[in-house]
Amino acid sequence: MQITFETKPYPTLETEALVTYVFEESDPIQARVADLDRAAGGLLKKLTTSGELTGRTLEFTLLHAPAGLKAERLLLIGAGKRDQFSVATLRKIAGAAARSLKGKSVKNFTFLPNEGLSAEDAAQAIAEGLITGDFETDKYKTDKKSDKRIDSVSLVGFSDSEKPAAEKGLNRGQIIAESQNFTRDLVNEPSNKLTPRILAEKAEAMAREAGLAVDILDEKRIADLKMGALLSVAQGSVEPPRLIVVTYTPAKVKDDAPVIGLVGKAVTFDTGGISIKPADGMEKMKYDMAGGATMLGVMRALAALKPNVKVIGIVPATENMPGGKAQKPGDIQTAMSGKTIEVLNTDAEGRLILADAVHYAKQLGATHLVDAATLTGAIVVALANINVGVFGSNQEWTDKLLGAARATGEKMWQLPMDDEYRELIKGSFADIQNIGSGKGGGSITGAWFIREFAGDTPWIHLDIAGTAWNDDAKPWLAKGPTGVSLRTLIHLVSTF
Ligand code: BES
Ligand code: ZN
Ligand code: ZN
Repeated sequence: MQITFETKPYPTLETEALVTYVFEESDPIQARVADLDRAAGGLLKKLTTSGELTGRTLEFTLLHAPAGLKAERLLLIGAGKRDQFSVATLRKIAGAAARSLKGKSVKNFTFLPNEGLSAEDAAQAIAEGLITGDFETDKYKTDKKSDKRIDSVSLVGFSDSEKPAAEKGLNRGQIIAESQNFTRDLVNEPSNKLTPRILAEKAEAMAREAGLAVDILDEKRIADLKMGALLSVAQGSVEPPRLIVVTYTPAKVKDDAPVIGLVGKAVTFDTGGISIKPADGMEKMKYDMAGGATMLGVMRALAALKPNVKVIGIVPATENMPGGKAQKPGDIQTAMSGKTIEVLNTDAEGRLILADAVHYAKQLGATHLVDAATLTGAIVVALANINVGVFGSNQEWTDKLLGAARATGEKMWQLPMDDEYRELIKGSFADIQNIGSGKGGGSITGAWFIREFAGDTPWIHLDIAGTAWNDDAKPWLAKGPTGVSLRTLIHLVSTF
């Protein structure tokens, strides 16, 4: 999709559609919409009087051949209350505009932002919304909806003095949204098309294209490093595991500067192993690599955005399969760190592979850690599919992440990590066990397990099991992979 700026007055533009948004106020005909109403000879005022146009969030009003405008259509989208308006709302509006118009076979349209945000923030949010909204998950359909793609959007209404900031925002938004779609594309792949080896190949290709350093560890190197926890999950599958390491190094960096380690769970399919999952819904477990795909998407964006901090992306990739060689409940494994683990449930495999990856991240020099993982079904019980679960060992570092989440409009919620929960994963026959004893707190005990391997290094765990996959399409996003937490992590690194 091409996104460009257009300086001609919008009433004179020949376009398939002119899109803008309206705030929910006693008189929605305000700011830019008042100008538009004048250009259209009072057409909008009539609609507010009749109650058809209220500005309620994502209300759609589509007018054909609007008087006074050269546009074929005028699409007005409700933006909700002005004092609650944010980049998140604008992103959804832009995404919903793209999705609804392409459903009507529109290929090129014009977007007029209303007031309420800086030029830079507005342009970034619009670009993000348009590009993520245009993404479809029909790669394997012969009758593709993707044939219905938006070719170009022109942005109007930015003054000459706003232009440089708007251009900056547009560029940033394009990089972030394309990286988010890169992540979503990986998550959408079924497990027969995305084995750990194929994921590693794709990561390597991305890194080379983006100009990032990359190291792919095969099963032999993983064994040489004594990553017993990762290997224990992989041993049930004929597909060998991979450990993907992608590194971004800024042009100027001091030897003792901090290094951020981004660790992402990539179980390309989670059957549960010998503690096998029920058949119903198991097909969804192809998205159990969403954490890893997120970190790869973040690295892709960082290569272009060039922040001032070194970042290492570490993605342990494996299948979790039952089989003659699979690990069994009660087996005791030794992680790379030397800690022994009693595997009471082979379906709690994410924490096992993250244990070794987090330890390796520290060995590579990470001073600050974030992991992202589709770790527990329990997080869906706690937060539904609304909020990402956040767990941290250091409140200052965790607050930075929560701030980044707020700034980008991704919903995240911190859960407690009291020492009492740690007691629940104390092992009977080894140092620790991979599930909590007793009932409840499943997401917290999962987080505590990973924390054991982060030690004193400030660490955050994001449980994205409930939020990485949309079971239903949203007006602004296709059904399926969301790419959640990528924007927050990019913001966190960029403002470090
Ligand atoms: N990949 C699953 C978690 C999951 C569940 C992701 C639902 C997405 C949707 C994870 O490996 C898992 O199976 N966790 C177990 C842990 C339990 C055995 C302690 C779970 O949540 O049931
Ligand atoms: Zn599992
Ligand atoms: Zn899993």
